[in-house]
Amino acid sequence: MTNSTPVPTPTELTPPDILRCAYMEIVVTDLARSREFYVDILGLVVTEEDENAIYLRSLEEFIHHNLVLRKGPIAAVAAFSYRVRTPEDVDRAEAWYQALGCRTERNRDGFVNGIGDSVRVTDPLGFPYEFFYSVEHVERLAWRYDLYGPGALVRLDHFNQVTPDVPRGRKYLEDLGFRVTEDIQDEDGVTYAAWLRRKDTVHDTALTGGDGPRMHHIAFATHEKHNILYICDKLGALRKSDVIERGPGRHGVSNAFYLYIADPDGHRVEIYTQDYYTGDPDNPVVTWDVHDNQRRDWWGNPVVPSWYTEASLVLDLDGEPQPVIARTDASEMAVTVGADGFSYTRKDDTVEGFKLGNTL
Ligand SMILES: [Fe+2]
Repeated sequence: MTNSTPVPTPTELTPPDILRCAYMEIVVTDLARSREFYVDILGLVVTEEDENAIYLRSLEEFIHHNLVLRKGPIAAVAAFSYRVRTPEDVDRAEAWYQALGCRTERNRDGFVNGIGDSVRVTDPLGFPYEFFYSVEHVERLAWRYDLYGPGALVRLDHFNQVTPDVPRGRKYLEDLGFRVTEDIQDEDGVTYAAWLRRKDTVHDTALTGGDGPRMHHIAFATHEKHNILYICDKLGALRKSDVIERGPGRHGVSNAFYLYIADPDGHRVEIYTQDYYTGDPDNPVVTWDVHDNQRRDWWGNPVVPSWYTEASLVLDLDGEPQPVIARTDASEMAVTVGADGFSYTRKDDTVEGFKLGNTL
């Protein structure tokens, strides 16, 4: 197991009441190229822009933005930002992370346009997290079908973070109020990934085991599967099929339909649709066997190696890249095929249900 100390629980404090993942701030090296990708190709809506930053939102969003593209020297993630229920929850977040011994910074005017009083922290896993309540409202374009393209992105759905020690991160996020929806384990008790939620979908963020802290992807939701197929067709027509990394396909975990693409700096974006409702307090946790060929792709299609190995750097509160710490637990890419040389489609069907692990 990874040799890292557990994150303490501030038992005397109340954690902030987190509503949902709200936006990500990413640093891009060429603002014009990134604008072409996110606005011209993917159709995100520009709320505001200047020579240094572009503020983008999805079509159903009513807060100022879901994505900030900021021009900078090193492609990285500056903030994973969550909205909290009340202004007092920003105070609770600040106190929570101070109790954890984390560096925090409070800005009553907000760190970015459109957002008010916020706290940014370097969390115990090394990620730049932000919490805010106050925000500028903008027009919700849900009914503006004149603006919809056939690949319309309607909501920010989730983040995905790479961290070496998934159980350590899971416990810290559960203390913070997240609930686990699904995970991937093996018979030896190693956890390879976990999906955690605040809103009533499968997740607001996921922890993927690997060298970290790094950002694995940011996911936007579309309404239906055909929207994702259109995006694939459009990328083909633009002779940009090389930005498609994985998919389209159906996930086992989350049951969602998916596509993974890479922006001009290599930041991974998932297009995602049709996961399930998780709002009941006794929503059952789904655990997948790491050797199950259908966990990552319900149709058993291979996961490309880059999907396991590539991810974006994240920044500290001074804007410097966080050092990446190697995972010491087994890697999912390495163990997908078990020691016997097989993974499975039907676990107990030893005649035909096993197959060579072409998921590598
Ligand atoms: Fe995802």
